[in-house]
Amino acid sequence: MNQIIVLIVMAVVSFSSCSKERKAEKNDQQKMGEHGTPANWKFTLPQGNPAEGRKVFVEAECHKCHEVKGETYPTITKGKGDVGPELSQMAGMHPLEYFAESIINPNAVIDHDAKEKGYVGEDGKSKMPDYGDVLTVKQISDLAAYLASLKGEAHKGH
Ligand code: HEC
Repeated sequence: MNQIIVLIVMAVVSFSSCSKERKAEKNDQQKMGEHGTPANWKFTLPQGNPAEGRKVFVEAECHKCHEVKGETYPTITKGKGDVGPELSQMAGMHPLEYFAESIINPNAVIDHDAKEKGYVGEDGKSKMPDYGDVLTVKQISDLAAYLASLKGEAHKGH
């Protein structure tokens, strides 16, 4: 008698969980047909202008912390904590969206050796400010295009 009850309970439990799964699947498919996110969708940054981006780089004083070998920017007074990676080899290193993320959310990716290099403060956070409130999407797209164009000193003039 007990065994029969156990069997019935198991059957009911497995049936109900199964039908729930099926319902969820159907909902997902319905959503896809209306306002769902296409399966291979990815965020793409608007096309930027590298020459404009260079201007933004100087205006926003990115060169306070970032050297770009082969580039000369207006002289700027550096503070003690104004350090950052040299950026002349950025071309081909990252997609545009990665550059945009480094500018609007510097803490999203921090190098494992950032502490030794002095790139992070006592709190473990990047010394780079977050520019989300300061720069427009166009400026960020232009900056990303500029960074993506930096092929290093060796390639200058070719
Ligand atoms: C106060 C110093 C400082 C300023 C100003 C600054 N950065 Fe940075 N930046 C850093 C530091 C430190 C890192 C490394 C830690 C990190 O990834 O946040 C970094 C990382 C980056 C990276 C990632 C490099 C890589 O190889 O992953 C990019 C790209 C970058 N900065 C672009 C910019 C741009 C563009 C500006 C100006 C809008 C700017 N930075 C202003 C300090 C600064």
